[in-house]
Amino acid sequence: MHLDIAVLEGDGIGPEVVAQSIKCLRSVEETFGHSFTFKNGLIGASAIKKTGNPLPKETLKLCKSTDATLFGALGLPEFDDNPKAKVWPEQGLLKLRKKLELFANIRPVKVFPSLVKQSPLSKTQVQNTDLIIFRELSGGIYYGDKSNDEDKNSATDTCTYTESEISRIAHLAFKSARSRKKKVTLVDKANVLETSRLWRRVVRNISESYPDVVLNCLFIDNAAVQMILNPSQFDVILTDNMFGDILSDQGSVIAGSIGLLPSASVGLEHAMFEPIHGSYPNAAGKNIANPVASILSVAMLLQHFKMNEESDAVVAAVLKSFSKKIVTPDILGSSKYGTNYVGDFIADNIMELDGSFNIN
Ligand code: IPM
Ligand code: MN
Repeated sequence: MHLDIAVLEGDGIGPEVVAQSIKCLRSVEETFGHSFTFKNGLIGASAIKKTGNPLPKETLKLCKSTDATLFGALGLPEFDDNPKAKVWPEQGLLKLRKKLELFANIRPVKVFPSLVKQSPLSKTQVQNTDLIIFRELSGGIYYGDKSNDEDKNSATDTCTYTESEISRIAHLAFKSARSRKKKVTLVDKANVLETSRLWRRVVRNISESYPDVVLNCLFIDNAAVQMILNPSQFDVILTDNMFGDILSDQGSVIAGSIGLLPSASVGLEHAMFEPIHGSYPNAAGKNIANPVASILSVAMLLQHFKMNEESDAVVAAVLKSFSKKIVTPDILGSSKYGTNYVGDFIADNIMELDGSFNIN
């Protein structure tokens, strides 16, 4: 198979982790006889510095004309907490998600058996965690009307959802549950928010077309507690843009490091693959960032294009790195291995698997 892949490294540790993912894709290319081409584009703080724009036109054009986008991370401290800034890096990612109509962000949270001790939570609490968050990605409070009136010291963010925005992601969540443990949990704040009440109505209606899937509804505050107390009770979590952002970071605590969790952002025509972590500017250039979230995002990319064996081979190589303790210091404080070494090890260990592959 041939794929044209747009590569948006972004800021901070973005370039370092994406470099490891590209090594892995090169290894998949060689092992399985595919051909991938990579075309780089600017986004985020580095794009602002070079062009004044966090999402230059060329980058959008590149992502629209390629089969998939591999995204690193963005954001730099000099743009945070700067009320005078006219543009900031995050705008680039938000605009890209909107323009590509990436309405579903799929974030699996799994506790790898060899890393179970990694979580600050107890082994019995986290060991069977295998959930997947379907976060709505192109609507809600992130994209509603905004205002900031400095004279009046007042600001507004509006949260709006339409039935069609909810139903398109709800169908994906129910379909995913069908191939998993057949449970969908809708997370909202329907005791307070009108948008949440709309989510409940639409999702309950849709659930009637999936009689084999059980639907539960939980308020976000309770869901946050339940996810820590007993994460294995969840299968598919369906939620809006903001709640999904928060819950998925919380999920990374269960998994043991935010450097482990990948994601796929999909729409009808485009797909982008991005770790859930940020740009970790303090680690940039130090060769300590964990490349696994980005590499597992590559596994999701391969799965998206139905290259299931290839995807399994990448995950198997990642698991091998865990079992051999070839990991970055966020996983093992005493580790002497850096981003590059771990990336090389994983890429070198991508090979055809014999027999069926079981992550456990
Ligand atoms: C994420 C990030 C982004 C988000 C930021 C960088 C805009 O936190 O992908 O989770 O809030 O969606
Ligand atoms: Mn986030």
